[in-house]
Amino acid sequence: MSKILKVSRRTLLSGAAGAATLAVTPRLFSPAIAQNAPLKVGLMLPYTGTFAKLGQFIDNGFELYYQQKGLKLGGREVQFIKVDDESKPEAATDNMNRLVGREKVDVVVGTVHSGVAMAMVKVARDTKTMLIIPNAGANDATGALCAPNVFRTSFSNWQATFPAGKVMFDAGIKNVVTITWRYTAGAEMISGFSENFTKSGGKIVEDLTLPFPEVEFQALITRIATLKPDAVFSFFAGGGAVKFVKDYAAAGLNKTIPLYGAGFLTDGTIAAQGEAANGIKTTLHYADNLDNPANLAFLKAFKAKTGLDGDIYAVQGYDAAALFDIGLTAVGGDAKAQDKMIAAMGAAKIDSPRGPLSFNKAHNPIQNIYLREVRNGRNELVSIAQAAVDDPARGCKMA
Ligand code: BEZ
Repeated sequence: MSKILKVSRRTLLSGAAGAATLAVTPRLFSPAIAQNAPLKVGLMLPYTGTFAKLGQFIDNGFELYYQQKGLKLGGREVQFIKVDDESKPEAATDNMNRLVGREKVDVVVGTVHSGVAMAMVKVARDTKTMLIIPNAGANDATGALCAPNVFRTSFSNWQATFPAGKVMFDAGIKNVVTITWRYTAGAEMISGFSENFTKSGGKIVEDLTLPFPEVEFQALITRIATLKPDAVFSFFAGGGAVKFVKDYAAAGLNKTIPLYGAGFLTDGTIAAQGEAANGIKTTLHYADNLDNPANLAFLKAFKAKTGLDGDIYAVQGYDAAALFDIGLTAVGGDAKAQDKMIAAMGAAKIDSPRGPLSFNKAHNPIQNIYLREVRNGRNELVSIAQAAVDDPARGCKMA
C-alpha cells in the first residue's frame, strides 16, 4: 500500500517535502481548531517508478507558486498530504478514498498517469471533492466524465497530438509508423495524431505497441527498420522515453527515419537522452525558450528553488496552484463555497509560462500547441503548430 506523508509549513521550508521515501508523521493539526485550520491539499502523484521525475517536478512547481504567495493559497496556510500513486491504476481508488475519506482534504491535485486519473475522477465525482489534474491527459476526464468540480491544468491526450498530424503531412510526410505503450494515454495520443494525419491525406502504415511501462523496444525498432516509413510518430514519457530515444539512435534510425512524437518524448528527459535526442520534433503546449515574461520569471525562480531547469510538468504544477489560488481567493479562503469557487476557476485567465491559459466549459485548458525541435539540449520553439487549441470535450454533459 502507498505511504502517506503529511507536510507542514516547516518541513516544506526545510526542503524535506521532496524526500523520495514517504513516511507517516503524526497528525499536525487538531480538528478542534478546524475553523482556523490550514487548508488540506492532497498531492497524489507518482514519486516512484517510470513517471517519478514527472511527479516530483509537478510537486516542485506547485510548491514554488505557494512559496511565492507567502506560503499561503487564497490567504490560507496549507497542510500538504502526499501519496505516492506509483502510476498504478489498481491502487488508485483506495489511495483517493484515503485522501478524501480519512484525510478529508479540501482539494486533490493529481496525477500523471491517465489510468490512475480516471479512477480519481470517479471518486471526485461521487464525493464532489475538488480535483485538479496537473498532467494526465485521459480524454474522458474532461469529456464523458466531466464534472463541475474537476479541472485540468495540463492537456487532453487528443489536444497534445492532433496538431502534429497536419504539421507532419504539410512537411511532406505521407506514411507513418506509430509506436506507444498500450494504455489509455498511448491509445489516445496516437488516435489524436492519426485523426488529423489521415484527414490531411496521410497513411498509417502500422501501429506498434508494447505494455506499459515495458522498455524492451528492440523488436519494434527492427520492425520500423523493415517497414521504412517516411517518419515515426510516438508517445513515451519519463524513464521509458529516455530509453526509447537512446535505443532508436543506437539502431541508427535517427539518421534515416525522422522521429516525431508528443512533446513528453523529450520534455524532462532531454538531459538523460543527450545527443540521441538531437533533431527530434514534437508538439506540446510548452517550449523551453518561449520568450514571454512569465516563462522567463518562472524558469529563473524554479532554478533558484531547485537548482534544476523547469519543464512542462513543473509548469503544470505551478498553474494548478495558481488556478486553485484564484478560486480560493474569490471565496475569501472558504473552500466549502464550492459553486462560487468553481465559477471563478472556470473564468480564470492565467498568464502561464506556456502562454495564455483559459478553460473550456469542460474545464480543459484552451492553449497554444507548439512545434518544437531538440537543439542544443533544449526543446526549442519552431512555430505555433495550432493556436488556442480547444478540446472537443466529446460526451461532456456538465451538470
Ligand atoms: C498520461 O498517462 O496521461 C501521461 C503520462 C505521461 C505524460 C503524458 C501523459
